[in-house]
Parts: sequence; C-alpha cells; structure tokens
Amino acid sequence: MTLAAADFAVPPDVQSHFSLDDARRLVELRRELHRHPELSWQETETAATLAAALTSFGITDVARVAGTGLVARIPGRDRSAPVVALRGDIDALPIAESTGLPFTSEHAGVMHACGHDVHASWAVAAARLLLAKPATGDVLVVFQPAEEVGDGARAVIESGALANVAAIFGGHVDRRFEVGQVVAQAGALAASTDTFEVEILGAGAHGARPHESADPIVAAAAIVTALQTLVSRRLDPAHPGVVTVGTINAGTASNIIPDRARLSGTIRATTVAARTLLTRELVRMVSDVAKAYGVTAATSLSSGTPPIVNPERMASIAANAVTRVLGDAALVPLGTTNMGGEDFAVYMESIPGCFMRIGAREPGGRVIAAHSPGYYAAEGALFIGAAVLAECARSASAMLAAERSP
Ligand code: NI
Repeated sequence: MTLAAADFAVPPDVQSHFSLDDARRLVELRRELHRHPELSWQETETAATLAAALTSFGITDVARVAGTGLVARIPGRDRSAPVVALRGDIDALPIAESTGLPFTSEHAGVMHACGHDVHASWAVAAARLLLAKPATGDVLVVFQPAEEVGDGARAVIESGALANVAAIFGGHVDRRFEVGQVVAQAGALAASTDTFEVEILGAGAHGARPHESADPIVAAAAIVTALQTLVSRRLDPAHPGVVTVGTINAGTASNIIPDRARLSGTIRATTVAARTLLTRELVRMVSDVAKAYGVTAATSLSSGTPPIVNPERMASIAANAVTRVLGDAALVPLGTTNMGGEDFAVYMESIPGCFMRIGAREPGGRVIAAHSPGYYAAEGALFIGAAVLAECARSASAMLAAERSP
C-alpha cells in the first residue's frame, strides 16, 4: 500500500531534511515494522525488512551482528577519521495490542509497546541523512536486537563490531514529551537493573509446635521489612534508588512450618556508587537478619544493565545538535528521574556517548505508559529522532577528527 502525502506529516522543523518520497517510505517502513513485531532474539523478519529498506535507500555496506541485528556503515568524507555510532533497538514485547491503529500488530500477543518500531525506522532514516550529507568520519548505524531482555547491547559489544568506535548516540521515544521536544542532558537518564534471589533455609515442623522449627517464613518477613531500610537509611537521599521484593514463596499447608522460603526482587540505582552500596548492603542485611532468626540465607545476584549517566561533553554535543536542528525551545529537562533500565548503558561502559529522550506525544495527545497495550509513539518522532541523531553523529565526528594529533 502506498501512502498519500495527506496520510502522514513531517514536523515542520525537519521537513527540509526529507524528500516527500523518502518521508513516505520511512512512514511505510515504521508501519510495516509495527504490524510485524517480533520478540527479543526472534527479530528475523524485522532484520530482513530493515536490510531491504537500507538497500532501497542506497546503503550497501550492511552486515549482520549479534544474530538478529544489523550494522550499516555510512562512509564519511575522511575514511581515516574517528568512527561514531548511532543505535536503534528493534525488538517488541509480549503484549496484546489495543491501540486500534490502522497498522496494528498482526502478530497475536506481540506488539511494539516501547516504540522500538520508531527507533529502528529513525536509524534507517539517520543512515539515509548521513548518506546524503556525510559526517567527517564513517558512521556505524547499529540495529540492535533484544533490548527488552537487556542483553542485546552486550552481544553487539562482544561481536567486536564497535571495537573502533569513538562515540555513540541513541535515544528513546517518550510520550511525556511532545513531538519536537528532546531531553539531551548530562547526568542520570536511566537506572541500573540488577535482580536478586534469596533462599532461606530453616527447619520445618508441625504448625502447632513452632518451638521445634527454625521458621523461614518469619525470617523472610523480617528480611523483607529490613530491606525497606536500605533506601531510607543507607542510601544518600540525593541519589534515587529502589529495592523491591517482587516474589515471596513458601509453604504448602496452613498447619505446616516449611523448611525453606524464597524471595526475589530488583535493585535500581542511578549511580555506580549507589548500585554498589545497595547490592553490598542487601547481601549483608539478608545474611545478618537470617542469623538473628536462626536460619541461613543465600543471596544470588544477577547483574542487569548499568545506569545510564550521560557525560557532560557528549551531552553538550547532543544538546547542540538538538538546538541546531530544532531551535533552543526544543531542549527540555528530564524532570523526574527514570528508574527504568535501558541497555544502551552497556555501550557507555566502554564508549563515551549520550542517550536522549525524544518527545513522542502528538500535540493534545495523552501520556500513555510504555509497555502498556495502548502504547504507540507519534509518527513525527521518527523524523525528529533521525535528524537529531544524524546531526549528533556529524558534530561528534567533526569534533573528534579535529582533536586528532596532527
Ligand atoms: Ni524501550
């Protein structure tokens, strides 16, 4: 189906960046991706659609990465200049869509409820813009699988595809902000997302003879209560953190004291120091409270993504790119810190970069929570994200090239 010009709109600020035909094809690409969402590590049709779109836009240097991902190389004007990367994630979520959009998901129980259809499309669009107006050095555009399960970025890094990259930029659509508003600031943008499991071992007994037991349920209750003081009494209140116990399981019958109980939960923090402190204190507290109740407890930790903390320099490159493309009024503050996670943080462990929030609410539209069945990103965000990311790549590339020793 070919869209008529009246069926979509490019935001006025970035209209000059896109021909009408390119804009139409990008909107068609976004809707195609939205209609055919795929879960993390299953993005085969998505990767094929994106590869075909890149080819149709004249981008020929495209390789598979991390299984279902792609990396496209857009040549710069000086092939020996430092390389910059842009990243768009491409996976969807196990949610049944209820948006009622004309391009609603055709895959039962799967939908783009986090806007990665737009991220993948703006990555293609940014590649197109960089082909038309190249950066100083080459730009790698990464189409990353499996962001939602938190390990796609790690797989891209481990593939070595970004080994020589000097800076990386990415962004996320956000319906708290209108199309045309962008958050590009230094500091914490997303939280770390570690999980913990605690197995408490006591001694079972008849429910009528508790003195013969070492009751793991009472110990579990005490541990859950004690953990509430990690954030309120251990963490510097200037730095947000979360410790949530999400599951608690024990027992089989009302008159039996079981011999074990299990807890699991998540730890969120926005600085490396807070992440380290909460993790260390959680392990200590579980062990000490268990001791007080005469049971043993083993805590296992599983590392998720680190926090995203945008460094000053990269944030200022991004902010300048935003104002060049959209004007001074486009830059808005993040406001409330986001305690969600984002695996872009994994790139930033080894590559300096900046992660942005790109407004995705149509004027007069509602705030709709990401990861909910009614979520979608306004189409205009596609063009804003593309133009801003392409400009970030050009600016960073020019700056890094100028810094090279003569
Ligand atoms: Ni997302």
